[in-house]
Amino acid sequence: MTARELILTHILRCSRADLYIKGLHLNETQQKIYDGIIRRIEAGEPLQYALGECEFMGHSLKVDSRVLIPRPETELLVEIIVETLQTSEIFKSSRVGLDIGVGSGNITIGLLRSLAPLHMTGLDVSMPALDLCRENLRRHDLEGSVNLIHGDVFVWLGQKYSDALKFSFMVSNPPYIKRANLELLPADVKREPVLALDGGEDGLNFYVHIISHVAHLLKPGGWIFFEIGEDQGKSLDNLLTMHGSFVNISIIKDYNQKDRFVKAQLIL
Ligand SMILES: C[S@@+](CC[C@H](N)C(=O)[O-])C[C@H]1O[C@@H](n2cnc3c(N)ncnc32)[C@H](O)[C@@H]1O
Repeated sequence: MTARELILTHILRCSRADLYIKGLHLNETQQKIYDGIIRRIEAGEPLQYALGECEFMGHSLKVDSRVLIPRPETELLVEIIVETLQTSEIFKSSRVGLDIGVGSGNITIGLLRSLAPLHMTGLDVSMPALDLCRENLRRHDLEGSVNLIHGDVFVWLGQKYSDALKFSFMVSNPPYIKRANLELLPADVKREPVLALDGGEDGLNFYVHIISHVAHLLKPGGWIFFEIGEDQGKSLDNLLTMHGSFVNISIIKDYNQKDRFVKAQLIL
């Protein structure tokens, strides 16, 4: 859809086809809303922030400057997780997952919609992001299936977990942009929270920490899934191989044939 079509279908609450088949038009109030959205976009705000929502896997999510705008490639990450878990032994007996850097709740909501019954824990260091995530869970009537935790992964993963509380899988789409490259990002991306983008000096801070600390949170045979930057596949492969506790390590490409996802399984 073009930006104009997206705005019109958002305001008129109709499909793209309806715009043309039914020839729908904006009334005076709706025209003011349209003009307001256009002004915000012209002032440099991302379209999704100006609309206040976006689509993720066919689900409508509230988004604003508190969270990263869910990206289309992350839908593919959810599909990879669903496909992997549906044929995995561990998931037959344990259906509990951890989403590190839960943000708007897009991954968690996508998984809950596809894999129920499932219980998720969502961790984020940003309280504003967690507030918005809670609104999205409420919107989809999923509050009862998710435990949201306000915490810093660099502290939180050090905690001890009893076997009963361990997860059958963990997913993370962490900040992975190299700090020196933050300045080079397009202007609209710079409107997104820097907390959601800054992956440290080499962009790998979160992966290094999560991989070295996550094993004791997982049940034997549990899975980890990451979204990664297109130039990080080799580094992730090395980190997981060197750790020594992971098998079935795969670096998976996105629709543009770029390395984008990683999955690996804790040894049984
Ligand atoms: C790239 S965004 C991903 C958001 C969402 N999961 C998605 O896929 O669109 C990374 C998220 O990690 C969170 N985050 C950043 N630093 C963190 C930390 N130290 N501990 C926990 N979460 C953190 C950010 O607030 C942000 O919501």
